[in-house]
Amino acid sequence: MSSGASDAAAWSRIAEPARAASGHQAIEWARRRSPVLDGMVRRRLSDGSLEGRRVAVVVHLEAKTALLATVLADAGAVVVAAGSNPWSTRDDVAAALVERGIQVHATRGSTVEEWEKDLLAVADTGPEFIIDDGAELTIRMARDRPEQYAAVRGVSEETTTGVARLVQLHERDGLPMPAIAANDAKLKHLFDNRYGTGQSTVQAILQLTNLRLPGKRVVVVGYGWVGRGIATYCAGLGARVTAVEVDPVKALEAHTDGHDVADIAAALAAADIVITATGGLRAVSEGHAAALRDGVVLANAGHHDHEIDVPALRALAVAEEEVRPGVTQLDLDGKHVYVLAEGALVNIAGGLGHPIEIMDLSFSVQALGCHLLAAADASGEPLPPGVHDFPVELDDAIARAKLASRGISLDALDVSQTDTLSELFSGEEAS
Ligand code: NAI
Repeated sequence: MSSGASDAAAWSRIAEPARAASGHQAIEWARRRSPVLDGMVRRRLSDGSLEGRRVAVVVHLEAKTALLATVLADAGAVVVAAGSNPWSTRDDVAAALVERGIQVHATRGSTVEEWEKDLLAVADTGPEFIIDDGAELTIRMARDRPEQYAAVRGVSEETTTGVARLVQLHERDGLPMPAIAANDAKLKHLFDNRYGTGQSTVQAILQLTNLRLPGKRVVVVGYGWVGRGIATYCAGLGARVTAVEVDPVKALEAHTDGHDVADIAAALAAADIVITATGGLRAVSEGHAAALRDGVVLANAGHHDHEIDVPALRALAVAEEEVRPGVTQLDLDGKHVYVLAEGALVNIAGGLGHPIEIMDLSFSVQALGCHLLAAADASGEPLPPGVHDFPVELDDAIARAKLASRGISLDALDVSQTDTLSELFSGEEAS
């Protein structure tokens, strides 16, 4: 074992160091299918901006995330990793990262208390930059480690809920550093939230239940980017979709996309499968229990484990049993309700997570976001505190690199193809 690996092993908290081999295999499988992160992004990161900088990576700890951590470490960063949800950690991947000299604080299925302790262990390493998911580390550092928090030089945030939390922190005067809204990059939410979550959520539900979709009534609660993607995949596989929305424009969008739209009570009364994707809390709670049908399957794709209020439904249950791996049967007033993956993000905690090709885009955004923060910081002109957009030129660079990796080239408009006012006013031809 190298000295870096033995130091990492001494400082880490992981479950199964002996399983590193399959973790390395999974990371290598992801690497070979991530041409942008492993190519263009790697090259951009090699300019020395990240050399010796401490970077915390707190994202669902599985193979694609481990590749991101490895690329950052190869660029010279001192990387520490933890999971953004205790149910999504892969212990073999965590072990492989430690063998690569990266400190890890994560075990699959740890209690909320253990998980929070892991996040604070990461905070105690004094990260200068955070690649966060759901702002899980950032908000805990703001609350529990104010000294280390004040020293953070920048955050790059993965998801819708995390960006919303960072905006709230900023409004409370609680964000003393710049944060990049990686989620809002086109190359993130247009692909990851919509197609990545759409495919992987449906895949996970079918895998966990061994059911099929044709003819089933699927209720999607929340018709944002995630809900829209899930609805598209469900309809594509033959389900009849009802969208539940509180935003009238998005509800109309769902209707125009060809789905039924209803309020939650009416929708639940007909549902075979309910999938939440609201980014909020308690979209399905004890007040909805009476409306649930016998045999209904409940799955969550939003960031919070409490979109489906599993503790509240549990409190109403007279009995419960894990009837298949990842499927909990609750006996409610004479009917059975099936909760998938304990109400955690079903596609990640109960499935394989997003397709690798999608995370190649999302993690390219995250890596370039972190690089942007570090390069600005090193130049002596850091970005000002607050939540910043991801630069359009970086979005375009990622898209071009992805297209090039598929052998696709694009045309460029020449000036004669561009509509200009001068042509209209003077009748002159554009030169
Ligand atoms: P979004 O903001 O585009 O959409 C959420 C929608 O839910 C909004 O249209 C809102 O009006 C609606 N909504 C909120 N509460 C509702 C309620 N109680 N009933 C009905 N509608 C309600 O957000 P986006 O990007 O679709 O993300 C949704 C959640 O999924 C977030 O928590 C995000 O962090 C998470 N996410 C999960 C991923 C995964 O892999 N599972 C990937 C990407 C995002």
